[in-house]
Amino acid sequence: MIETRLTRAFGLDHPIVSAPMAIAGGGALAAAVTGAGGLGLIGGGYGDPEWLEKQFRAAGNAAVGCGFITWKLAEKPELLTETLARKPKALFLSFGDPVPFADEIRAAGVPLICQVQTLDHARRALEAGATAIVAQGGEAGGHGATRATMTLVPEVADLLAAQAPDVLLLAAGGIADGRGLAAALMLGADGVLVGTRLWASREALVADGFQSAAVRADGDATLRSSLPDIARKLDWPAPFTIRTLRNAFTDRWQDDPEGLRQADGGGYAEAIAAGDAEGAPAIVGEAAGLIRDIAPAGEIVTRIAADAEALLGGGWRR
Ligand SMILES: Cc1cc2nc3c(=O)[nH]c(=O)nc-3n(C[C@H](O)[C@H](O)[C@H](O)COP(=O)(O)O)c2cc1C
Repeated sequence: MIETRLTRAFGLDHPIVSAPMAIAGGGALAAAVTGAGGLGLIGGGYGDPEWLEKQFRAAGNAAVGCGFITWKLAEKPELLTETLARKPKALFLSFGDPVPFADEIRAAGVPLICQVQTLDHARRALEAGATAIVAQGGEAGGHGATRATMTLVPEVADLLAAQAPDVLLLAAGGIADGRGLAAALMLGADGVLVGTRLWASREALVADGFQSAAVRADGDATLRSSLPDIARKLDWPAPFTIRTLRNAFTDRWQDDPEGLRQADGGGYAEAIAAGDAEGAPAIVGEAAGLIRDIAPAGEIVTRIAADAEALLGGGWRR
């Protein structure tokens, strides 16, 4: 067994948390991760209340948490109140200032997990009273920034050791197998947040065409851009960009984002609906290069944990 402060704090068998992936991370995925002994998070994303209700229903009685895109939640703060009433196991905020939401989350007795991309973000998460901080490197799939997991995680670990030793630390970005989990523990993390690898699971709400493209791709085949956000007319603030696979869509618009704006999305929404992985890019990180199959999420969690345990010489306790 790998026992850490994270597994003890949340009563987990494995120090593995599923990323709250907008659109892709629904209740079935979160429940499968929790069922396998990790902590599953529903991807509340841009805050569609009907979708969210459906996903909490799909999770059934499994103890799952929920994540929001913070700058978007600021436009619909009532969604936080509704979600806290569902007694989530954790409330996860990323991409924006968590402080305005912290009092309400604390008053509900729900642990706050803040994902950060820089040291400044980490300091702000401490001001918000976060129970856990996720240090997200730029290898990650989906939105993020530019720091690398390999340096950001130990630097945040040092910050926490000096200023907030009780705050838990998770590593995110590029972690898809036992090597990644074992390495994250060595870097000072108490556990990991896994996105791309669980996006490539049976329970993820992702069309086959996109998952097949990710299985075929290697880790060289991704890029960070704002193209999907321009196509979807989502007003993402700096410094955040989104990592996806490179494909015909990104090749077409990479040097002409203005043209994409004028082309009204360039067929992006239609391609998503059709599962066309050339018309819209799969939203995955560099970990795409470590994915060989689309497996049940619970199996992915137990595989990562067992491989890490073997690498660590049969277990780990900290
Ligand atoms: C398809 C996809 C959607 C994502 N959506 C969100 C989101 O809505 N909110 C969020 O905080 N992070 C989101 N992320 C980022 C994850 O929280 C996490 O940092 C990342 O997946 C970790 O890196 P990895 O993909 O290499 O595992 C998303 C990631 C992916 C792959």
